[in-house]
Amino acid sequence: MTEMTKGQEARLVIDGKSYTFPIIEGSEGDRGIDIKNLLQQTGCITIDPGFKNTGSCCSDITFLDGNRGILRYRGYAIEDLAEKCQFIEVAYLLLHGHLPTAAELERFKGLLERFALLHEDMLHFFDHFPPNASPMSILSVMVNTLHNYYPEMSDDPLENVEMTAARLISKIRTIAAFSYKKSMGHPLVYPSNDLSYCGNFLNMMFDKPVKPYTVRPEVVAALNKLLILHADHEQNCSTATVRMVGSAGVNLYASIAAGINALWGPLHGGANEAVIEMLETIYADDCNFDKYLAKAKDKNDPFKLSGFGHRVYRTYDPRGTIIKNACHEILDVLDVSDPLLDLAQQLEEIALSDEYFIKRNLYPNVDFYSGIIYRAIGIPSNMFTVMFALGRLPGWIAQWKEMREDRTTKIGRPRQIYTGEPARKFVPIEERK
Ligand code: SDX
Repeated sequence: MTEMTKGQEARLVIDGKSYTFPIIEGSEGDRGIDIKNLLQQTGCITIDPGFKNTGSCCSDITFLDGNRGILRYRGYAIEDLAEKCQFIEVAYLLLHGHLPTAAELERFKGLLERFALLHEDMLHFFDHFPPNASPMSILSVMVNTLHNYYPEMSDDPLENVEMTAARLISKIRTIAAFSYKKSMGHPLVYPSNDLSYCGNFLNMMFDKPVKPYTVRPEVVAALNKLLILHADHEQNCSTATVRMVGSAGVNLYASIAAGINALWGPLHGGANEAVIEMLETIYADDCNFDKYLAKAKDKNDPFKLSGFGHRVYRTYDPRGTIIKNACHEILDVLDVSDPLLDLAQQLEEIALSDEYFIKRNLYPNVDFYSGIIYRAIGIPSNMFTVMFALGRLPGWIAQWKEMREDRTTKIGRPRQIYTGEPARKFVPIEERK
């Protein structure tokens, strides 16, 4: 862990008494008031719904600057990584803190190939999900079950993290593709070590006995870029969940399954699927942008513009910009035109010239355009959040590992302010009115 520098102090006055707390500064100048002794010193806690102003940890993994639209994994700009790396290279970077040498990458690739198959007994689980089961619920169940088949997380949870990470990163791809095949009633296509990480996924998804699938380099490149762009994003809801669950001492598989469930939400990773549903609704409603923008701005209407806004970014999400450009590239290569892309661009333009969105710094986020690419590749919308999970998995594992390696980690247990009934005398049931 990079040493934080101790900066000035923050002074707090409560009931006329003054208290000081150290201000710590990260390697990029972000500062935090260290309040770990606040309750003990002042008898007060802080309240911060949604943790908008609260840091849960110090981390070496990902840096975000929401005002400047900067995203870096282990110091490398997302623009460079998305353009120049393979997804498994970035997964290695997140897990180990450095870009792999050719030999290190070859070794990691060998582990991913070694762990690509699922235990044959696990395939029976797929026979017992209803045909319309959500792929996210299947993913969560199957990842949790991996612990029963591969319980190698010894007493020292960090002893086998590299093997377990490779096993999870490889098998989650197989689970995702198998769940799709099962939902289509098609025969499973097993992984092949002749294919790359992304090529293998595409082949397992779309190859059929009656019509072999051609793994096109352009499609592999588009998927590779998408997975890299989703690989980590500091302390977002699902990553914070993985850390929280992991802080209780539970194994990595169960922690990741918890992260998958958090990601499922339409306010989080589920937004990519919600964006397509929203665009299809607007398209079917004669592209009535005014109606839907009015709904998005109406406090009494639960409708929100999916794919817009972000807790951290106050400008363009750099990932959204890269994905938007990749949309045009992949649609051109596949000679596909998707009316929803034109619609999305019009919606973006209208929203970004609307005072409501400007005032609140609401810009397209990572989810606004990603579904356009998944559709062009042939991935169904109910698998979009599964694709987000495939990308995010290395980040979740890296964050879990960092949390476990940090000797200062304690079990996550927030406090509260009680606002309920004062103490009252018990009333036996026969006396209750
Ligand atoms: C991801 O945290 C991460 O890093 C997440 C992520 C990652 O990589 O892990 O980046 C992935 O989850 C991206 C976000 C995907 N979700 C969506 O696209 C859903 C739509 N967006 C919103 O629900 C919202 O913008 C959030 C959830 C993303 C952020 O919510 P916040 O930070 O709690 O902000 P807020 O709800 O308090 O909004 C502030 C104001 C409110 O209006 P006022 O009360 O000030 O009048 O902006 C409004 C909100 O009503 N607002 C929106 C809006 N987003 C915020 N109004 C309409 N449409 C929207 N999309």
